[in-house]
Amino acid sequence: MKGIVFSEFFEMVEGQFGFDMVDTIIANAQLPHEGLYVAGGTYPHEEMVKLVVALGQATQTSVPDLLKAYGKYLFHRLIALYPKLAEGKSNPLAFIATVEDYIHIEVRKLYPGAELPRFITVSYSEKELVLDYLSARKMQDFGWGLMEGCAEYYKQPLNIRYEFLENSDAVRFYIALA
Ligand code: HEM
Repeated sequence: MKGIVFSEFFEMVEGQFGFDMVDTIIANAQLPHEGLYVAGGTYPHEEMVKLVVALGQATQTSVPDLLKAYGKYLFHRLIALYPKLAEGKSNPLAFIATVEDYIHIEVRKLYPGAELPRFITVSYSEKELVLDYLSARKMQDFGWGLMEGCAEYYKQPLNIRYEFLENSDAVRFYIALA
């Protein structure tokens, strides 16, 4: 994963739990290079998993809940860095519907080497978007949090749920205007 995903994670942890917690989870996650990440660098996805697990143990919070919270937080940070990405989209469904063919294409230019998921649109109406999420990294809860952050950004609540499809690696998201 890109260094920005780590540095923003440390910012969130520091803001919510204090700097000592950042130290604690870096020590407990037993990372190489002592938790030093460069924004443009690329690091193994497993290191992010170790950090989230360490935070979960230190705060008695489940890993899915932490990934959701982090996704929500990161959406606001990313859109503040790249506000143009939201131009021309008037609601969160319209935004999320463009992640595969626009947002993440731009991300690849900004962050060479980014490891991104695939989203396949199953159906899209004014009220509901159904998307299949495919990724070896299985970060559907992080995606869920990014979508929640998007809903907050547009001040348009969403009902989001997902299910694991049988005989498939895909996770199907149902995202509806609330
Ligand atoms: C609601 C909208 C979005 C959704 C649902 C979404 C979903 C995801 C997911 C699930 C991942 C984790 C990687 C994986 O699953 O394989 C990811 C990674 C990432 N996304 Fe998005 N994303 C959204 C919007 C954005 C925006 C607005 C940006 C703006 C820059 C962005 C930049 C990134 C970056 C930098 C990564 C990390 C890639 C890496 O570290 O290699 N995403 N996204």
